[in-house]
Amino acid sequence: MTAGGTVEPIDPVRFIGNFSSGKMGLAIAGEFRRYTSRVLLVHAGMKVPVPRGLRALQALTVDDMYKALRTRLRPDSILIMSAAVSDYRVSRVRNRKMKKGHGRVLKLEPTIDILQELSRKKREENIFIGFAAETENTERNARAKLIKKGLDLIVANPVNRKNNPFGSDSTRVYFISRDRTTAFSRISKARIAGELIKAVTDLLQKKACYERS
Ligand code: CTP
Repeated sequence: MTAGGTVEPIDPVRFIGNFSSGKMGLAIAGEFRRYTSRVLLVHAGMKVPVPRGLRALQALTVDDMYKALRTRLRPDSILIMSAAVSDYRVSRVRNRKMKKGHGRVLKLEPTIDILQELSRKKREENIFIGFAAETENTERNARAKLIKKGLDLIVANPVNRKNNPFGSDSTRVYFISRDRTTAFSRISKARIAGELIKAVTDLLQKKACYERS
């Protein structure tokens, strides 16, 4: 599982970040931990503490998170990417604090798309689940990501004045798989984690049937 918001440094005191609290990833890790001890949480910046007893590893930047996952992913791993990952980083990280009046324009470069990159080596037994936060066309945009990133499931959150998943304990979500969309009106992150267990069980059963046939 991944959780939290990536941190891309600008200089020794500033960074590019996002509003992710890490609550969703922790809820998922906690729920899966009830069924297996083989849970690893790879987390970026968290606004809530990581519970003791959970096997966890900090990876703050996109690159660090990619490396941590790439080296640990097994041919039968289940990867759940609830981390909010920056699409850009600063081209040249300053080693001294940028003073007022300097560097009003930051040159950015794209980061690696972790899911897309890892899905190149995805095996039949792997299950990859992504998350998406969308301010418009939630279902359509999330489904496009499901295909583009080679995912088995994507959990899409609408972000608007009525629904802001960041930092909240509950949110509206869509579970979007290749063949269906299930909408949940406002449910707790703990219940989303429970629904993910059911979805993963279904996916594992489907894969097992596919292998037998
Ligand atoms: N993700 C990733 N690597 C990135 C960006 C995102 O692995 N560089 C993952 C996120 O962890 C999430 C999923 O991809 O599970 C969708 O993330 P999102 O930010 O919604 O998608 P993007 O591809 O970045 O598209 P956009 O920001 O344009 O909506």
